[in-house]
Amino acid sequence: MRHLILGVAFAALLPLAAHAEGDAAAGEKAFAPCKACHAFGKNGAGPDLKGVVGRKAAAHEGFSYSDALKNSGLTWDEATLKEWIADPKKKVPGNKMMYAGVKDEKKLNDIIAYLASQK
Ligand code: HEC
Repeated sequence: MRHLILGVAFAALLPLAAHAEGDAAAGEKAFAPCKACHAFGKNGAGPDLKGVVGRKAAAHEGFSYSDALKNSGLTWDEATLKEWIADPKKKVPGNKMMYAGVKDEKKLNDIIAYLASQK
């Protein structure tokens, strides 16, 4: 019985482990250029990114988003964030995040892990 319970608990944890591709500590460093505009807990030149993973795009109160992002219909998960951070202009044409994007795959995964840790 005990084995069965452990087995079930382990199976439940597997999807989480599979998500942990990125390294949040490295992501904090890779996030340095983003800090020019983004913080956690308050809006700046860019919207507050606290809790952004799982949130709808352009949903943070008090930030004046572009219509393009408001109408994007996106929800920020690993896949959508990856495309956005890699190339914001391509993902949402007409948005107002003035940033060329992160092309390095490892940095991308690390940044997303870091964002996911900022709840
Ligand atoms: C020059 C300022 C600037 C820099 C640098 C910048 N951003 Fe942004 N970011 C913005 C602005 C402005 C928006 C809102 C865009 C809009 O409304 O079209 C935004 C939006 C976002 C969003 C969507 C937030 C939401 O509430 O929907 C995410 C996620 C994001 N940025 C992540 C990043 C990351 C990660 C980096 C660094 C790799 C970065 N940004 C660099 C200005 C910036």
